[in-house]
Amino acid sequence: MQIPHHIESTIRQHAEKGKTFNAYIYDTAPLKRRISCLKRIMPQGVEVFYAMKANPHPAFLNAALEADVTGIEIASLGEAHKAVAAGFTPSQLIYTGPGKSLEELTWCVENHIRTIHIESLAEAHRIQSLCEQSNTQQDILLRINANFDIHDAQTTFSGGSKKFGIDEEQLDVALPQILALNKLNFRGLHVYAASGVLNVDDLLHNCKLVFDLTQRIETQYQGVTCDIIDFGGGFGVDYLEKGTDFAAQAYADGLAAMIQDYSFQNRHFVLELGRWLAAECGWFCTEIIDIKTSRGKKQVICAGGINHFRRPAALAINHPTSIINMNKPKLFDGQESIHQEKVYFGGPLCTSADKLANDVYIEEAHIGDIAVFGLAGAYGLSMSNTGFLSHALPQEIVVTH
Ligand SMILES: Cc1ncc(COP(=O)(O)O)c(C=O)c1O
Repeated sequence: MQIPHHIESTIRQHAEKGKTFNAYIYDTAPLKRRISCLKRIMPQGVEVFYAMKANPHPAFLNAALEADVTGIEIASLGEAHKAVAAGFTPSQLIYTGPGKSLEELTWCVENHIRTIHIESLAEAHRIQSLCEQSNTQQDILLRINANFDIHDAQTTFSGGSKKFGIDEEQLDVALPQILALNKLNFRGLHVYAASGVLNVDDLLHNCKLVFDLTQRIETQYQGVTCDIIDFGGGFGVDYLEKGTDFAAQAYADGLAAMIQDYSFQNRHFVLELGRWLAAECGWFCTEIIDIKTSRGKKQVICAGGINHFRRPAALAINHPTSIINMNKPKLFDGQESIHQEKVYFGGPLCTSADKLANDVYIEEAHIGDIAVFGLAGAYGLSMSNTGFLSHALPQEIVVTH
């Protein structure tokens, strides 16, 4: 991985202050660029939401606001508060995710958020009763656990037994009940297949199956229209550095053709994107504290581990990795370092799960250098085990242009 010049100079500037260095460096320019790109290329009716679970840092929310995103996908009350603090209105929030508490739903209903995406019948009834108490109506989408999945995706959200949404096979029991709840305005469907998908055809195939399901529902239930269709997130990024970024233009063209084929021109289509918008905006940087050989393999021990950057261990993948040479003096003669070899990177935690990367080829590295992991802007710090062993949190440094 080539570290951009301005990122490397920011790292050097902060790392040379004499303290052990652990930080995320953020540059939100790619997020703004990508939102603008989607607004330009997507067919009419497509609305882009930022899935803030990817990175809830205020700089990301501000960048999304500046780029004029349609709104924010939230999955907790904490996220709702952060989005509002950043300047989004409740009417720009869509709320997904299983297990929404009574307090969370109350806030949503009282503040008239845009849509709540219902994940179960219990949730539908809870919202109905809240709306009755405050004599209001709430727009909802129904999240379906579709009977299909994308097999090679990093994480799947539909197909098989899942905690997300209502099984497609149970639709004929669940939908009439939901339609009978008079305080809920049924606006359409939410079907999120998978995250981290690089193959455009796979995601488009998912769109087609959702369009088929929409047609079936509208034929079967007279007077019911799905005027909002939410495809969730899913655009992948090139963690393995194969030169295969998600081809957004091909997706936009395929979706436009499909909308035409199904005569769905008057509908709204929602994309709730996290990874594709945020990943390129972050680098996790951590000082190399120790290097040693264990049974023939080099172990590189860094100041931060899964307490700061859990994603590589959780997903069993390597992120693009580079080293910034800091020219630190040697501690003793014979001190080990890395020269053109494949090594293991771990953190300081007392668990062998504390892995940052494995079998990653490194040209050269020494104790005191900074290991830099790229594409760390999405699902970085917010997905990490920050409390384990009570180490200090890494800094979050935002680069301004
Ligand atoms: C409901 C929902 N929407 C959107 C996203 C964002 O997905 P991605 O980061 O793949 O774009 C997620 C991620 O888990 C999600 O659960």
